[in-house]
Amino acid sequence: MTSPGTTLRLVDTDPAELAVDAIVIGLHSHTGEQAATGGLLLASGAESIAVAFDGKLTETLALLGATGGPGEVIKLATLGTVTAPVIAAVGLGPEPTGAAPAPETLRRAAGAAVRALAGAPRVALALPLPDDADAPAALRAVAEGALLGGYRFAGYKTRPQPTRREPVAEVLVAVPDAGDAGAQAEIARAQVVGGAVRRTRDWVNTAPNELRPPSFADSVADAAREAGLTVEVLDETALVAGGYGGIVAVGQGSEAPPRLVKLSYTPADGGNGKRVALVGKGITFDTGGISIKPAQGMWEMKSDMGGAAAVAATMLAVAALKPSVAVTGYLPMAENMPSGRSYRPGDVISMYNGKKVEVLNTDAEGRMVLGDAMARACEDGCDYLFETSTLTGGQVVALGKRIAGVMGTPELCERVKVAGDAVGEPAWPMPLPDDVRKGMDSEVADISQVNAGMDRAGHMLQGGVFLREFVTDDVAWAHIDIAGPSYHSGEPTGYWTKGGTGVPVRTLVELVQDVAANG
Ligand code: BES
Ligand code: MN
Ligand code: ZN
Repeated sequence: MTSPGTTLRLVDTDPAELAVDAIVIGLHSHTGEQAATGGLLLASGAESIAVAFDGKLTETLALLGATGGPGEVIKLATLGTVTAPVIAAVGLGPEPTGAAPAPETLRRAAGAAVRALAGAPRVALALPLPDDADAPAALRAVAEGALLGGYRFAGYKTRPQPTRREPVAEVLVAVPDAGDAGAQAEIARAQVVGGAVRRTRDWVNTAPNELRPPSFADSVADAAREAGLTVEVLDETALVAGGYGGIVAVGQGSEAPPRLVKLSYTPADGGNGKRVALVGKGITFDTGGISIKPAQGMWEMKSDMGGAAAVAATMLAVAALKPSVAVTGYLPMAENMPSGRSYRPGDVISMYNGKKVEVLNTDAEGRMVLGDAMARACEDGCDYLFETSTLTGGQVVALGKRIAGVMGTPELCERVKVAGDAVGEPAWPMPLPDDVRKGMDSEVADISQVNAGMDRAGHMLQGGVFLREFVTDDVAWAHIDIAGPSYHSGEPTGYWTKGGTGVPVRTLVELVQDVAANG
């Protein structure tokens, strides 16, 4: 199931002399001054290649239609001018005044270039990298972009596809000093984080008939054990016995029973005293259940386990990066199906923390499984609880396909936003209004699962308000709704391929390392 990887290596030899199949350079779009002459601006890193072209490189690229716009990749046969047979000029947009391009610009450019060069086994990137304090972030971005742009899901086609080219197998990143320990550490980290994102994409892209709760749990448990994590899997019997009413209710409609997977990382040095809990929604397929969804687009609900996949992959990255903080992952898994055994609107469910929930819409299943898992995480003990889920279509309506919604303890939401900005996974804090909670007062139980009149106003916020009921007062928590950003249904762009994106793995890894360093 796991797609073959792309390997990364640092080089500090002259890009013009690199024996690779293609060399990537950066191209800025017309800036004020250059516009007058109609010129493009080669980004730094491409100097020796420009010399080999006798000063005619930008002119040639312009002839080929290059504009330097973001995402554009123009290929050029070098005909012996440099060692590599092909140059690919990737657009970086206008040159930022007096600064190197933003990390996310580089990440997208590296991704777009590596994607466009599929079919070339070895590629070198000679992109503009700053030589100041911003160097590590820029190198990290280029490395991640290359690894993610080189991702392809193996898929299920039985015949070889004549028009399909193999993803780039090896990427050389040109830097001033390939022996620099800091630079090598960034490459090693990118390989781990990129690997975690790729694994998340693989799990999300796997067909839902092949990834049901028992097999998803097995797949996660195998990978986690191999990584040296402690694994505990609760099966349907243990879930009933343990009082996990929410997970049991959602899972009972399916022939494939539910699971709760717990993955623990204990730092060898004992850690810094903080405990991080990560919780991810693992609905392997969401039909909506008795409150069934329309047929159009339902297939995308195979991605409703994207939160659990991201948490599992983050735990694998944590096992490799060995931060000095204790981290535990909780993955409630269920398949939300309509059947004679399904839970139904009107049911009252006793959750793991004892609260009684009145079900009004079986399609609001994520909060049912998450409530149990979050209550368990609080019972086990944690200082910070980050939960992520493809929870509401309301997130997509409010913030679109790229920006995750964050609700919870305000300071922690801000921390998620800062981490997301740093890694190129934007997230925006949203409120938990009293009136939304009031609207969820149930006639018969402690809380309704959604607004008591099924009013969809503040739809995303209802999810956050509900989940708050399952967090104890001593725990700082953040709910990250990734309904939009976790899955890319459009054409490939930047380092995003079609299907799972791997959001928010990079944010979660960043947060864990932030807590390890700063408490
Ligand atoms: N898994 C969906 C949310 C979703 C929608 C994820 C679109 C990705 C893309 C979730 O379980 C769901 O069905 N939510 C309902 C909630 C409603 C019933 C309160 C929704 O968004 O309509
Ligand atoms: Mn649903
Ligand atoms: Zn769902």
